Amino acid sequence: MSKKPFYITTPIYYPSGNPHIGHCYTTVACDSIARFKRMQGYDVMFLTGTDEHGLKIEQKAYEKGVTPKEFVDEVVETFKKLWKYMNIDYDRYIRTTDDYHIETVQKIFKALYDKGYIYKGEYSGKYCTPCESFWTDSQLDENGCCPECHRPVTFAKEEAYFFKMFPFAERIEKLLTETDYLRPKTRATELVNNFIKPGLEDLCVSRTTFKWGVPVTFDEGHVVYVWIDALSNYISALGYMNDKYNDFDKFWSADVHMVAKDIMRFHAIIWPAILMALDLPMPKHLAVHGWITFNGEKMSKSLGNVVDPFVLGERYGCDAIRYHILREMALGADSSFSNEIMINRINADLANGFGNLVSRTVAMADKYFGGTLPTEREADALDEEFKSTVVSVFFEVEKYMDETKIKQALEEIFKAVDRANKYIDETEPWKLGKDESKKAKLATVLYNLLEAIRIISALLSPFMPTTMPKVWEQIGASESDVEYGKLSAFGVLPENVTVHKGEILFPRIDVEKEIEELNSIIKKNMENAQSELSAEEKGESKEIELAPEITIDDFAKVEIRVAKIISAEKVKKSDKLLCLQLDDGMGGRQVVSGIAQYYTPKDLVGKKIQLIANLKPVKLRGVESFGMICAADTPDGVKVIFVDDNIPVGAKIR
Ligand code: MSP
Repeated sequence: MSKKPFYITTPIYYPSGNPHIGHCYTTVACDSIARFKRMQGYDVMFLTGTDEHGLKIEQKAYEKGVTPKEFVDEVVETFKKLWKYMNIDYDRYIRTTDDYHIETVQKIFKALYDKGYIYKGEYSGKYCTPCESFWTDSQLDENGCCPECHRPVTFAKEEAYFFKMFPFAERIEKLLTETDYLRPKTRATELVNNFIKPGLEDLCVSRTTFKWGVPVTFDEGHVVYVWIDALSNYISALGYMNDKYNDFDKFWSADVHMVAKDIMRFHAIIWPAILMALDLPMPKHLAVHGWITFNGEKMSKSLGNVVDPFVLGERYGCDAIRYHILREMALGADSSFSNEIMINRINADLANGFGNLVSRTVAMADKYFGGTLPTEREADALDEEFKSTVVSVFFEVEKYMDETKIKQALEEIFKAVDRANKYIDETEPWKLGKDESKKAKLATVLYNLLEAIRIISALLSPFMPTTMPKVWEQIGASESDVEYGKLSAFGVLPENVTVHKGEILFPRIDVEKEIEELNSIIKKNMENAQSELSAEEKGESKEIELAPEITIDDFAKVEIRVAKIISAEKVKKSDKLLCLQLDDGMGGRQVVSGIAQYYTPKDLVGKKIQLIANLKPVKLRGVESFGMICAADTPDGVKVIFVDDNIPVGAKIR
């Protein structure tokens, strides 16, 4: 019989910076579910990847002096290195710069256009360049700045394609409120009240202001804007509308898309709408988890409090880190990362709890029976109760994993660990070992413990895949002994099983020493981050040295006029200069400006600026310049001072 398919995905991450513990969480969670499903006998497709287009990447590459592709290639390597390090067993890795994905995106865009779901219009509003987002006035923060990064926004207008959302509103609402798609379902209310009830807005799906994206095939100058490009990865990676793969029919629709709350809306509303427009079946579940914060604060590079999984893995092993983050985060809620909690948890659950259970059991089998159990048994009610408790855990874990509740599944497994350690205290094998007549009883106890460890370790193996094979080695379990079908009953290991003492699985951590060291790493990172911030960003007022005082008459000598940029092009053989043609209300003029590193012609054409109109003409790189445009020096580079579109060309500024 062919295996049942199971398809699970992580978000595709932006390779704009190195991955941190937050990215790690989603990927480890999906990896654990994928491994669990493989263990259950499913034919699993586990997809992860990177979302590599967009203005931010284009800008970062520019700052580094490399091409966007060179930039992402390097970061993607770090992502892949981390996944290897964390023992992530993905089946496929998609990059949105892969040719086959680009082909799919272009075909999807065209198909939606042909069906009338995508139309051309104009986007105008407040625009945040770093976040590549337009915002409505009501969305801006209390200072009128971007609600996400809190930087100033500019008024912008551009021709763009839009995706019609309205036709799908009713079906999406039903999907969210009447099906088991959204997990936890409690989040449906906020989505319905905030987005669907007020009327779904059409989605802007193309841009003309940057180039680093998938070109729209039928309208030069437009690139597909983020969400159609990004979300389509889930189907292009299976071969939808491309020839690279051909398992779309087998694996679609997805069983689980896992994301954090930041991108819930895109997966709960926009992705279903795109699929509906394409007449494709809905994914089965969207599992939404919260944020990992650091001691309750949002992790951010500029604060220097980003938790680096490489640093932690190096010190405690990747399984301990996997376990800790999975055990801390419940679907839906945030989870505050703290070094103290992590170390205490590793010590309590892994070193003292599970690790100790294995080492004590193996050591006793070794001590009392030379490593090989005799076959005589003598059981009583306590043994039966112990066995049934461990077996019941198996069924609970299975149920929780079906509901993508990893934290609860792990809690269940550790109930079995605690029960097994208690069973040792209750049966006191060290006393049985001293009494020749109790050998059968002792063998029963040790056999039950080994069996409990077999079941527990097999259930833990999807979460801690590096360590569990070492446990199997120690308890004498073969590969087939830990198959899923054998985890709901005792009596699988041979009666005369032979154990092998091995290395300590999870060494106890010296809490004080480690916390001191980890805190000093974080402190150093924070100090570095702080010293990289400009005085302004730190909130300090800067000592600014002003030019010598002038009178109003001096100022009146400067003729500043509003002008509109009609066209712009790079000055040949110069990286810095742009040659601008301006409508100055006086017949037009040419100005050369040193802004080519910060603006492309597309960013400028149609915008109004402040022109110093009576400056003595000069030649720059052989090109004549009749004036200068005003710009500000900022920590993020030079910013042109744009003028509100309502002010007429030629108006005098004073
Ligand atoms: N590229 C988009 C996703 C497109 S999916 C079609 C994107 N990328 S991202 O790099 O910003 O990744 C966001 C995701 O990374 C979150 O949804 C979450 O899965 C993970 N996390 C990043 N930081 C996180 C935390 N601090 N805590 C938990 N998960 C976080 O959005």
